[in-house]
Amino acid sequence: MRVLVIGRGGREHAIIWSLLKSSNVEKVYCAPGNAGIGQLAENVPLNEHQFQELAEFAVDHAIDLVVVGPEDPLFAGIVDYMEAKQIPVFGPRKNAAEIEGSKVFTKDLLHKYAIPTAAYETFESYDEALAYVRKQGAPIVIKADGLAAGKGVTVAATLEEAEEALRVIMVDKQFGDAGNQVVVEEFLTGQELSILAFVDGETVRPMAAAQDHKPAYDGDRGPNTGGMGTYSPVPQFSQELIDEAVRTIIEPTAKAMVQEGRPFRGVLFAGLMMTPQGPKTIEFNCRFGDPETQVVLARLETDLIDIMMATVNGRLADMDIQWSDSAAVCVVLSAGGYPGPYKKGDVITGLDEVQESIVFHAGTALNANGEVVTNGGRLLGVTAVGATFQEARAKAYADVDRIRYEGKHYRTDIGAKAL
Ligand code: AMP
Ligand code: GLY
Repeated sequence: MRVLVIGRGGREHAIIWSLLKSSNVEKVYCAPGNAGIGQLAENVPLNEHQFQELAEFAVDHAIDLVVVGPEDPLFAGIVDYMEAKQIPVFGPRKNAAEIEGSKVFTKDLLHKYAIPTAAYETFESYDEALAYVRKQGAPIVIKADGLAAGKGVTVAATLEEAEEALRVIMVDKQFGDAGNQVVVEEFLTGQELSILAFVDGETVRPMAAAQDHKPAYDGDRGPNTGGMGTYSPVPQFSQELIDEAVRTIIEPTAKAMVQEGRPFRGVLFAGLMMTPQGPKTIEFNCRFGDPETQVVLARLETDLIDIMMATVNGRLADMDIQWSDSAAVCVVLSAGGYPGPYKKGDVITGLDEVQESIVFHAGTALNANGEVVTNGGRLLGVTAVGATFQEARAKAYADVDRIRYEGKHYRTDIGAKAL
């Protein structure tokens, strides 16, 4: 089979690496890809929003499946576009991608179907939101409704921070129309857990659970990032508790989406808080997580292409998906300064000295001399698998040490919670 993957991050590199393990996958293209992806697949110089050109490419190159990595083209309706042209495509339609695109939509859906989540109110008026926040007091969580490049959520420890967040979203309109509504939410305590699942209508096939590390610095300090590292499995939570999360959150949500006339097909990613009262939903994403995908697919034993085709063809219920018992750890290397401003174009060396890990590329490119250079905030996801977490971490960090570039940054405590 011939596959076209859309995206340019570590997630897409991991998806392609996994797809190519199958003898049924003969050729993979990636639009636009990155320096690492180009070593496995053929990069195509089209971006995620060139729907017409991507569809023409798929037809001209006899593509059997288009796989959409990031959320933006899903929100913009790339799946609807490809389906209208009879091009097989893995991912949710626009009306199902709303589960990530609008926090108000998702909170109202969870409320309507009594699916566990933090208590909340939504507001269109700044004055009403402010009055409610003052009545509730801190800690409290403020979220812009729409997309705010990952910056729309404030977990406010004090009333001042909460009021500032409301002002930024609703008065200053820093996120534009994404701030026309806000969700004000109860502060939940506990550890976070990511459960990704293949979903085809009401059929849910959960993947191995993973845990992300969102803050930039060790000990979960500093500003939030897209994710500085992950590990899987997450042994501090029993399989029973993980099954409970699937049964009480992911399965009823898939069912609710069908009942709402928005059947979900693709990867549904539940961001959960494991509270003393049980698992509660923080958010849903309509796609594979990054860097969750790197560790989850490192443990997948079934052919990814078979699962994807079964999902697209409505046969997911027939699939039996196997995961290895191993431990996987992904340590993200980022540019100095990320998630604030950072430089691009610095040469990365030592990639050919890596011994025991798979290095998934994110923000990398090739310069005019054919050298791999920094080209983004998150650069590389050094991913290792071992019989134990001790082994996986030792391998990943040994390889992290072999990679060099100016301003190198990473967390030294990825996976420490699993020990
Ligand atoms: P979100 O974009 O909704 O995933 O929120 C970003 C981050 O804010 C989450 O990963 C959590 O760490 C934190 N967060 C969101 N909602 C809550 C909540 N109700 N209680 C505590 N932390 C939260
Ligand atoms: N790692 C979190 C995300 O992909 O949104």
